[in-house]
Amino acid sequence: MDNFNFCSPTEFVFGKGRENECGSFVKKYGGSKVLIHYGGGSAVRSGLLGRVKDSLAAQGVGFAELGGVQPNPRDTLVYKGIELCRAEGIDFILAVGGGSVIDSAKAIAAGTLYDGDFWDFYSGRKVEKALPLGVVLTIAAAGSEGSGDSVITKEDGLLKRGTGSDVLRSKFSVLDPELTQTLPAYQTACGATDIMAHVFERYFTNTKEVEITDRLCEAVLLTMVKETPRVITDPNNYEARANIMWAGMVAHNGLVGVGRSQDWNSHAIEHELSALYDCAHGAGLAVIMPAWMEFVHSHDVMRFCQMATRVFGCQMNYADPETTAMEGIQRFRAFLHSIGMPVNLSELGAKEEDIPLLVEKLGLGDGRTWGFVQLSAADVTEIYKLAAKAKA
Ligand code: NZQ
Ligand code: ZN
Repeated sequence: MDNFNFCSPTEFVFGKGRENECGSFVKKYGGSKVLIHYGGGSAVRSGLLGRVKDSLAAQGVGFAELGGVQPNPRDTLVYKGIELCRAEGIDFILAVGGGSVIDSAKAIAAGTLYDGDFWDFYSGRKVEKALPLGVVLTIAAAGSEGSGDSVITKEDGLLKRGTGSDVLRSKFSVLDPELTQTLPAYQTACGATDIMAHVFERYFTNTKEVEITDRLCEAVLLTMVKETPRVITDPNNYEARANIMWAGMVAHNGLVGVGRSQDWNSHAIEHELSALYDCAHGAGLAVIMPAWMEFVHSHDVMRFCQMATRVFGCQMNYADPETTAMEGIQRFRAFLHSIGMPVNLSELGAKEEDIPLLVEKLGLGDGRTWGFVQLSAADVTEIYKLAAKAKA
């Protein structure tokens, strides 16, 4: 096991109706004038935004608001948010929504206290300070409620890039599973795929014998395999929603990756798809991750066999481990298909002829990526091609 630091300072406020307490949590963490940041309207329609405002008002906390965050959040709204925070003397940001809203809120939080262009943080500069931030989560997916990460798309050139810093971790995150019951099945499934992907990015490691981390990963994956079909069939199943919501946090606050190397190539390869086609991040991962697995499995066949047997119930074929590994990957793809996810580029709305552009935008040049298997531009091209011809 490698040496590690594990920092997860967020206070998680879990359960039914807990959003009604957000005013007191803002106060607890020093907020007196809040920017409420939200998305395209689901939080307004469900009445959640009204409850959040009532909760702030009940605590005597003033607020301004900025809605309109779109999935794959854009830099243009972040600039508006920074201006608004400065003009209104905002000292706390409350993100009410999913990963896109939270990531936009994080960018505003960092940008407000920075003299330069906030995009510097998405081009390699480390975020050193940010306004404090709270979250009321409405979709289990990105894990941004527990992570220090933020991913923003620059309109000019459609560049989707990330940044990460512990100062971007939320002070508190309200996780009320009931809020996720209004999600369309497709969004629920996209979220579930992203959660599983966050675990797999950590499961495929070159560091040996970190059994505790393997087993924590498998617990989250098995939970997702069991609970996702239940909420697709019955969107109001509170217990299944609750398990998924907590799994989404556990998958991405860092816990299931400690003590070893990680991968993250599928995320980088997917981000080019959601940048170019504006598809849901989870749907892009459903197409890319199994293709990436097929491409790299020979690097450590036994690790893929472990996934196949422990997570997807395959029988181990000791005479031919390759068969078991490939069966596990195909079962993962079939599972994603069964919950309504696309399996190939065309089902996602992507075009095979755009592969050279996708690879170019990833910007590897003559270099390679990082992680479990370091990939060249030619390797990434092969992965996109596998994703183009995949079948359920
Ligand atoms: O905008 P509204 O109207 O709220 O609709 C949203 C949006 O259309 C809808 N929605 C959310 N909660 C709902 C709801 N509809 C009905 N009822 C509810 N309760 O769902 C749609 C998707 O929302 P979004 O926030 O985009 O989803 P998600 O949480 O999957 O976030 C995706 C973004 O997070 C990034 C992705 O790249 C993508 O940009 N990621 C962020 C990470 C992080 N910060 O740690 C890590 C991830 O790997 C990921 O890259
Ligand atoms: Zn993700």
